[in-house]
Amino acid sequence: MLSPAETLMQILSRRPDHALSHDLYCDPGVYKTDLEQIWYKEWLFALPACEIAKTGNFVTFNVGAYPVVVIRGADGAIRAFHNVCRHRGQRLCSKVVGSTPKLVCPYHQWTYELDGTLLFARDMGPDFKPADHGLKPVACREAGGMVFVCVAANPPSFDEIAGHMNRYLAPSGLADAKVAYSSTIVENGNWKLVLENNRECYHCGGSHPSLCRTYSDNPRMTAMDGPDSASDEIMAHWSRCEAAGLPSRFIMHDDSQWRLARIPLLNNAESYTMSTKHAVERKMGAMPFYDAGSLLFFHYPNTWNHFLGDHAIVFRVLPISPTETEVTTKWLVHKDAVEGVDYNIEDLTRVWINTNDEDRQVVEENQKGILSPSYEPGPYSRIQEEGVIQFIDWYCKTMTNRLAPRPALAAE
Ligand code: FES
Ligand SMILES: [Fe+2]
Repeated sequence: MLSPAETLMQILSRRPDHALSHDLYCDPGVYKTDLEQIWYKEWLFALPACEIAKTGNFVTFNVGAYPVVVIRGADGAIRAFHNVCRHRGQRLCSKVVGSTPKLVCPYHQWTYELDGTLLFARDMGPDFKPADHGLKPVACREAGGMVFVCVAANPPSFDEIAGHMNRYLAPSGLADAKVAYSSTIVENGNWKLVLENNRECYHCGGSHPSLCRTYSDNPRMTAMDGPDSASDEIMAHWSRCEAAGLPSRFIMHDDSQWRLARIPLLNNAESYTMSTKHAVERKMGAMPFYDAGSLLFFHYPNTWNHFLGDHAIVFRVLPISPTETEVTTKWLVHKDAVEGVDYNIEDLTRVWINTNDEDRQVVEENQKGILSPSYEPGPYSRIQEEGVIQFIDWYCKTMTNRLAPRPALAAE
């Protein structure tokens, strides 16, 4: 089990543009340090706000060892709390999705308001102060209809990305959407392998027959370096979409933690469907046309998303163990679209259910190979795997900044 210092040594001795070492993909100590330095410090995508549209609606999940509940209050505000009773620590909500008028602990029925204040605790005596035993809050922000949480006591600023998300996601109208379908799978692979696999399409031709009907795996076509630097096809798409009121141009954070960009689909496809046509007879929000392509948005370490003309697909990644990762996918449609009339679940979800399962298989086989003592980190393709290089560089830089003693860095 590697210590944080040993983890740092492996990160510092990595060959540039090469995959990480065996230990960095499977060692329990590295996993613990990943949780402490990345997952317990960064903003993480939790759920689309429309999933908890009404007072008392909640969603629960785990950020490493932290059970978290996100719940809509009577005042309409969305709040997040540690899902842990202040009496003897019972997990408050065990359901993944639910609705409740108050948060009632199942053990001894301590009862909390939806804003976390303790309302009722039976027979605790005259000296007991309910005000001292409210639920512990978790930092929570909504932007563009997506809810993010951060379990750190002092979270990093979320303002810059929130501003961009509000602008880029506005036409997609996530506030007026609903969750049409949700899927959670467990991939038997390290979370970094799940992210790496998402950041390249070098594998798409060999793995994703249904996705490749509508999504180009040509890295030259989808290469983007800036708001005015992309292929002719992408530039033309941006001009057309922006003229119709859709913010579309590539924008990326300085340290590449997130990116927003709208790309056209292949052969004028409208959506990620087997037919290449739209799956929902009702456009999202203020989307002007079905063939607006896909607004891509990733935010490390735990989300990538596609916002289309007729629906949106949001992805949430959560680590479970050194070699297990949970991937939750939610398909959003306009809230007034009627299942069986305006869309059917099969057409809506087929491509990405297939794609997720295909990705699960490649990630699991990747992990199995890396577990072999014969594994040696190989080179990434500069042509095909620029996105992977960028993710791994972000990971290594973030970990180095947090693990390296400052004076030692200065002395270098
Ligand atoms: S642990 Fe929650 S009421 Fe006792
Ligand atoms: Fe894939």
